[in-house]
Amino acid sequence: MRGEAQPRPDSPLLVLTGAGVSAESGVPTFRDAAGLWEGRRPEDVASPAAFHRDPLDVWKFYWERREKLLTLSPNPAHRAIAAWQEKFGDFPVVTQNIDGLHQLAGSRNVWELHGSLWIDRCVACGHERRVQTGRETGIPRCSCGAIYRPGVVWFGEALPETVLNNAFEAARNARRVLVIGTSNLVYPAALLPRLALEAGSEVIEFNPEPTPLTPHATRFIQGKAAQTLPTFNPGDGLE
Ligand code: OAD
Repeated sequence: MRGEAQPRPDSPLLVLTGAGVSAESGVPTFRDAAGLWEGRRPEDVASPAAFHRDPLDVWKFYWERREKLLTLSPNPAHRAIAAWQEKFGDFPVVTQNIDGLHQLAGSRNVWELHGSLWIDRCVACGHERRVQTGRETGIPRCSCGAIYRPGVVWFGEALPETVLNNAFEAARNARRVLVIGTSNLVYPAALLPRLALEAGSEVIEFNPEPTPLTPHATRFIQGKAAQTLPTFNPGDGLE
């Protein structure tokens, strides 16, 4: 959804999400998995070197993740965010997640910092196509003849520049930033709440556990997002 990132510098609200927002949908978070991704070492399945070495092995890993996701649904946290957008306008939902569950819950203006599990990108010409299926019969090929790779950001790769710059700008301009279900350990995403605080914005954090952001946040709302978000009013005091 790279093309979806349109700056909304006037938006008073901004949401930043991480793996925790999808936890109650059944998507495992990263830090909980003892450094492993579905039992694999991240560098073995999520790096340009791994793809270069064995593209089919990497594709199989991503096809499995797609198949699993096809059985999962958005949870009340995703739905609460989509309902806030209905009420307060399409403020940006900046996510580190690649699962597409925000969009499935009805959110618009979702800015995917780490790409999407549902995009194939040609390694040669950069063409992107959206997919909705799980397993494929072989490594997918672009009409230019080269192979596609998963449209996600891998270890050692830069984040999509436009999306990131728009997110920085929106974080500086928002009056209230809601940081939901992220460990705030992975940069540059973890910079967004810091920029907002520096610009004098409120930062409200939602997480069952404190994170490195917690001592700096304006407010920390402790608990699972599927429980804390549905009763929260993000517009309170902003009008
Ligand atoms: P993490 O796995 O690092 O952190 C998940 C956070 O969610 C933790 O702080 C948990 O306490 C919290 N959490 C767990 N259950 C929750 C719930 N039910 N409700 C709310 N919060 C909950 O995930 P991220 O911060 O998203 O990058 O990780 C950032 C990036 O690290 C990922 O996008 C990935 C990884 O390397 C790439 O793949 C490029």
